[in-house]
Amino acid sequence: MCVVCYACLKDQVKCPAHAEKQRIMDAIEWCDLLVVTTPTYNMNMSAPLKAFFDFTFDYWMVHKPTGALFGKKAVVFSSCAGGGAKAACKEVKKNLFFMGVPSIRCVPFLSHSYSLLTVPPKKMNGIEKKILVLAKRYSQGGKPRIGLKTRLTFFVMGKMHQAHFDGDPSELVYWNEQGWLNGQKPWKQ
Ligand SMILES: Cc1cc2nc3c(=O)[nH]c(=O)nc-3n(C[C@H](O)[C@H](O)[C@H](O)COP(=O)(O)O)c2cc1C
Repeated sequence: MCVVCYACLKDQVKCPAHAEKQRIMDAIEWCDLLVVTTPTYNMNMSAPLKAFFDFTFDYWMVHKPTGALFGKKAVVFSSCAGGGAKAACKEVKKNLFFMGVPSIRCVPFLSHSYSLLTVPPKKMNGIEKKILVLAKRYSQGGKPRIGLKTRLTFFVMGKMHQAHFDGDPSELVYWNEQGWLNGQKPWKQ
């Protein structure tokens, strides 16, 4: 769990879990398509996934986002027994959005089961068909469209850094180094 030391905001390398984080963030930067899965627990994402997002809050647009994430597409899967998968996917989507991912598709599933092994065969067939259609669509590749919400949020974050909002001074330095305060955009780099 994040120990709330805020060391990452000054220097990402100083996070006590830096090595673990870096391994996952490297994989995310490298991937063609980001596939995030979580079971639905209490109408939300699982605790380990939430812990991952807590650990990587320094990658949010308001701090030091990674430019590569603005070029990613993501699909979020969650399965639930009776309800809440949609809400769980929405929470994951929110985290990915604020990390800069511009294209995120939510795929909630209602499995009517407490275990993958006992999902009724008809239900399982439906789920598999849906996934195959999705896989075909995403196998065609292509760059994600950068929506107005991403553009606007990025713009506002830049203005906040320029106005020296309550962040760490190194954030302004980082945004300047990326050229993002001089008109450059991460999705064009
Ligand atoms: C702690 C816990 C909380 C759960 N909360 C919900 C819930 O809010 N809504 C729901 O429909 N199912 C809930 N379930 C059932 C799981 O979401 C369901 O079994 C799901 O298919 C598990 O996904 P998996 O097969 O990928 O492990 C919960 C199960 C556990 C263990």
